Amino acid sequence: MNWEDIYAHAQEWVKEAGNRIRSSFDQTLNIQTKSNPNDLVTNIDKEIEQFFIKKVRGVYPNHKILGEEGFGDDLKSLEGIVWLIDPIDGTMNFIHQQRNFAISLAVYENGIGKIGLIYDVVHDELYHAIRGNGAYLNEKSIPVLKSTTVKESIIALNATWVMENHRIDHNLMIPLVKDARGTRSYGTAALEMVFVATGRVDAYLSMRLSPWDFAAGAVIIEELGGVVTNLRGEKLDFLSQDSLFAANSGLHHSILKEYLKDGKW
Ligand code: IPD
Ligand code: CA
Ligand code: CA
Ligand code: CA
Repeated sequence: MNWEDIYAHAQEWVKEAGNRIRSSFDQTLNIQTKSNPNDLVTNIDKEIEQFFIKKVRGVYPNHKILGEEGFGDDLKSLEGIVWLIDPIDGTMNFIHQQRNFAISLAVYENGIGKIGLIYDVVHDELYHAIRGNGAYLNEKSIPVLKSTTVKESIIALNATWVMENHRIDHNLMIPLVKDARGTRSYGTAALEMVFVATGRVDAYLSMRLSPWDFAAGAVIIEELGGVVTNLRGEKLDFLSQDSLFAANSGLHHSILKEYLKDGKW
């Protein structure tokens, strides 16, 4: 398998998809809801996923595809080469703000991340990595992550996890929020992961995400020495939904030990 060719194709297609999204900005969106009134999807999310599927199937007919909007394959395992595609991560931001969203594209082989691309379309910033070769923001190499302490860290998380909710005992997150230097929520898991990769935030925590939300980010963060697990500190399997905890390695270690170990995540 020529991974450099796959990497080049992935970059070319993600840029072309970005152009399509940019040219949709003056069109009226067709907006629908999925699991609840705030779970939104647009015609553009669907079109972009179908665009990638056509490209991948055209060149790599043996590869499999896992896409958020369901146009890919119905996968029971990650055997072989699998593309994990989130055509627009941060759809709510895309609709309301026309910014703060990204395309997330990853290529895995037998469950191991090989290629990760996250494209911030509005800023024309492509974060990308191929395993073993470091990570880049456009042409610029991203420096390896330095460890931080909780007191000097900015932590990205969604405010709902600190409010009463049906998933966790919300009190469990309060000490971490109190001790951190600050918190941020951007509403786009993919960009929150590249913010960890670039040190703009030091950690990102979420109670529940899907493989297409974190597959590309995991490749990029791990290339820079960061750590990506679920909130119990376990490896992700990239086929199922799970909680997510991404951080530089020192911070990952201390948050896990001092704040998360008693949680039932
Ligand atoms: C969502 C975003 C959001 C996260 C949600 C995801 P989508 O992805 O990443 O930040 O909190 O859980 O589902 O639906 O906009 O692709
Ligand atoms: Ca969605
Ligand atoms: Ca997503
Ligand atoms: Ca999406």
